[in-house]
Amino acid sequence: MIRINENFNALQGSYLFYETGKRVKEFQQKNPDIRVIKLGIGDVTEPLSPSIIAGLKEAVSEMGVRETFQGYPPYEGYEFLRNIICETDFRARGINISPGEIFVSTGAKEDTANIQELFSGDIKLAITDPVYPVYVDSNIMAGRNKIEYLPCNAESNFLPGLPSEDADLIYLCFPNNPTGQAIDRAGLKKWVDYARQKKAVILFDAAYESYIREEGIPHSIYEIDGAEEVAIEFRSLSKAAGFTGTRCSYTVIPDKLMAPDKSGVRHSLNKLWLRRQSTKSNGVAYIIQKGAYGYFTEKGRLENMKIVDYYLENASIIGRGIAALGLNYCGGVNSPYIWCSVPEGLNSWQFFDELLSRCNIAGTPGSGFGSCGEGYFRLTGFGKRQDINEAVERLVKFK
Ligand code: MLT
Repeated sequence: MIRINENFNALQGSYLFYETGKRVKEFQQKNPDIRVIKLGIGDVTEPLSPSIIAGLKEAVSEMGVRETFQGYPPYEGYEFLRNIICETDFRARGINISPGEIFVSTGAKEDTANIQELFSGDIKLAITDPVYPVYVDSNIMAGRNKIEYLPCNAESNFLPGLPSEDADLIYLCFPNNPTGQAIDRAGLKKWVDYARQKKAVILFDAAYESYIREEGIPHSIYEIDGAEEVAIEFRSLSKAAGFTGTRCSYTVIPDKLMAPDKSGVRHSLNKLWLRRQSTKSNGVAYIIQKGAYGYFTEKGRLENMKIVDYYLENASIIGRGIAALGLNYCGGVNSPYIWCSVPEGLNSWQFFDELLSRCNIAGTPGSGFGSCGEGYFRLTGFGKRQDINEAVERLVKFK
């Protein structure tokens, strides 16, 4: 008789953004005349930039001609894309990453969820709290339960301390989702040194790298000496290039990154990931990779830098509105996210409901990102400027 994977019983009822989306939809169905301003899930609103559109269009035409038609893409991604990624994101910053260490994918969500398949079921995890829920849920689905949560709260300046027990696999995300906090070079070095000492692996989610504006904030974990022996980095075009609906990302697994099996034989994680990806995926569409190439050109980077600046300005407008309510917040500087405290007397979900019904603004309750997120709330700078300004005006109702 068929039976389910009972690890699913250990999950929370529903995925955070599914739950918030459902509540907003129900509110809208009951109140069809009200226009809700959505500052919940971090979904981009500006159109794809001209360089990306040019790449997409060119590829569409090529697909209609026998000589340039493309079938299955390479499992790791087209060389033209992996080469330009290495040039712009790494070599231009003095980091020596080669195309063979890059795997193009349909999204950092998928890759951060799937990467745990490379590791043993009984390893100890260190995960920040609050956290992007995908890291936790994907491990719970796989039956892992040895998780140390590292609190990130106002007392720790929203940065995690090192684990109290030796960790084997560490999830870090900087600039952070959900808190918006960035980590400086010295802070990140502590983690790389820790992983080297404990023979652990760091999964470094840099999906929000393009929002970094301050000096001294590393854009890649490989800016830290020795990181190529202990870290996997995830990058995404979702928020950098408006690809939430177009889907493209990449993962870096350096050749030097090895991990042992139970007999102590060391294996290349790059090779294991290639084995995994070539078995379970047929890669990313040529058309999409050509669009992504457009983003990595000099013109494309400039176009998208302006769009990211626009979202950052949105975030600082929201931050000012939050401060005017007398609420503390962090983020919004190297990140599109504002992480604020909720008004006294309310918990995160109560504030979600109140904000939706009184101000018609949808956000994300902090407790949905972990127990240390209770008492906090996340708003995103993704939105049209007019809506952001209107949202700030509506917030006054909370005074
Ligand atoms: C978020 O709002 O945290 C992100 O948009 C979710 C995601 O990237 O999957």
